[in-house]
Amino acid sequence: MFEHLEPAPPDAILGLTEAFRADPNPRKVNLTVGVYRDERGVTPVLECVTEAERRLAAAAGDKTYLPIDGLPDYARHVRELSFGADHEIVASGRSSAVQAPGGTGALRVGAEFLRQAFPKARVWVSTPTWPNHPGVFQAAGLAVESYPYYDAATGGVDFEALLDGLRAIPAGDIVCLHPCCHNPTGADPAPQEWRQIADAVYERGLVPLLDFAYQGFGDGVREDARGLEAFCRPQAEFLVCSSFSKNFGLYRERVGALVVVTKDAPTAAVVSSRLKRVVRVNYSNPPSHGAAVVSEILSDAGLRREWELELGGMRNRINGMRTLFARTLTEKSGRDFSFIERGRGMFSLTGLSPEQVDRLRIEQAIYIVRDSRVNVAGMTSDTMDDLCERIASVL
Ligand code: LMR
Repeated sequence: MFEHLEPAPPDAILGLTEAFRADPNPRKVNLTVGVYRDERGVTPVLECVTEAERRLAAAAGDKTYLPIDGLPDYARHVRELSFGADHEIVASGRSSAVQAPGGTGALRVGAEFLRQAFPKARVWVSTPTWPNHPGVFQAAGLAVESYPYYDAATGGVDFEALLDGLRAIPAGDIVCLHPCCHNPTGADPAPQEWRQIADAVYERGLVPLLDFAYQGFGDGVREDARGLEAFCRPQAEFLVCSSFSKNFGLYRERVGALVVVTKDAPTAAVVSSRLKRVVRVNYSNPPSHGAAVVSEILSDAGLRREWELELGGMRNRINGMRTLFARTLTEKSGRDFSFIERGRGMFSLTGLSPEQVDRLRIEQAIYIVRDSRVNVAGMTSDTMDDLCERIASVL
């Protein structure tokens, strides 16, 4: 029955983790998938999560279906976390939210909703972007195009090219942006640049789709929302896809959200009805556990404080590893990798060619994504010298 099928290629990121698991080399290092690891190389379950789970277990809730759009409390917390508790968007009711299975699920629901709303629109992604973006958008029936973003010569954002690129996108098309911790480059625009980006997007009449997967991993929970805040203007309409995989360490619980901000509350009600249709025909209604944990933490002042502390600890370690990696690689290679220090979040491009990436994997059992992306949160200080010597050996 299936003889006509060709095998699909392995996933650009998760496929490498499968290959890593199968590698018998005892010195193997996995810097591929965006998962935080501590100084011991372990992905911790946050203490606030363990405590929230203990409370949820003690409360013995039921297992009936959640509403199609998820836990109502959770939607409120997502809005407050994204925009700030006192924000006009939270108070006015001019947004609709659905709980989604991870940030990827939020992107897929958002993409299907947009394809129905604007059947001819294309979606524009940054060059480069998360390798799964094109696949998710195409699976929802949207054609994908790209706009300039990264300047390999400086390791930063090519801001003029980005603005020119946005201004050349046809009105009515969708533009996907990363409000913080750009994946894969780690290069973010400055806050005043975000305002110019939002100006260009709105002047051009584009539909902003903000992929907000790393809030709190750059400079802080509110600081990392500055890119998003640039889009919050009276009556302005945009979509936000949030993920709590990283900042709550809830990866496998698949917990994310899509918030569609509309010009007024009646429009939000219409959008909400459409989002629920998209969810119902895909996975009917969302899984409960991850969202219940996030709600439990964010609705309790003590647990929330604990979460911010633990998140701050992860962020400090990431930023520390970023600096140490940039300096050690510069020292071991004799080349300038200081641009890595200026990045934010878990990822940076190293600028290695695909051939060098392959040699690194084959000769050194060091796994990085083929676009040269490394996850600095997968590094430890005691192995940094060794890691950078081995990377330098393929340069
Ligand atoms: C990543 O980019 O590594 C993460 O977003 C995990 C994933 O699903 O690819």
